[in-house]
Amino acid sequence: MTTLDIDRIRAEFRNRSIHYYPTIDSTMRAAARCKLGDVVIAGEQTAGQGRHGHTWYSEPATGIYCSMVLAPAPALTLALGLAAASAISEIAGVSCDLRWPNDVLLDGRKVAGVLVQLSGAVAIAGIGINANHRTLPPELDAVATSLRIHTAREVSTTDLLIALLHSADRFAAEGRETILRLFTAASSYAAGRRVRVNQPEGLIEGTTAGLDPSGFLIVRKDDGTDTLIVAGGVRAAGS
Ligand code: BTN
Repeated sequence: MTTLDIDRIRAEFRNRSIHYYPTIDSTMRAAARCKLGDVVIAGEQTAGQGRHGHTWYSEPATGIYCSMVLAPAPALTLALGLAAASAISEIAGVSCDLRWPNDVLLDGRKVAGVLVQLSGAVAIAGIGINANHRTLPPELDAVATSLRIHTAREVSTTDLLIALLHSADRFAAEGRETILRLFTAASSYAAGRRVRVNQPEGLIEGTTAGLDPSGFLIVRKDDGTDTLIVAGGVRAAGS
């Protein structure tokens, strides 16, 4: 088991306040009380939050549980998915797929997730990475994985967090057009992918047809009409 070296993380980001909690309910809640630039990191979360009211499985000492207080930026959820994939590639040496808008995948299973909440003038940006989990709860087994399960190797969570904070800064500073171009290139879901999407009016099925200028996903149904997907719920058809 690798333990998080908070002193090394603080030394790497001397101009930012890094708040560390061995145990916390959710880093999102703590970050909402922090100032711009602050980072909240936890060893475990007892009430980790996912998108759409889901919980985020937050086993002690194996995962990355981190929230950053950032300036709102264009397509921030997409930018941070790119940042997570970049940090994973740098530290674990594996290449991830991105499922619009916030899922980072290995072999079609979720290895990391992004949650962005606007809070007044700032964005609270949470990222969870399943790093050194040897197993996952049975209900997540089919849909999630960890770097350890995928590669059979442990990663240094300290190295991964440092890489993540640097890449988050880098991608969050990019303009919308760059993020949309990079996301489209990195995601097998952005175009030409058969998907099912949960929409308020029911399940729709179609083929993805790119991102619109705001970063929303276009799904072309078999009758030729396009639906703009503005929230998540995208799954590969047949999965
Ligand atoms: C999702 O994919 O549904 C988003 C998952 C986000 C999880 C991270 S873990 C750190 C931060 N704190 C939380 O409670 N959630 C985010």
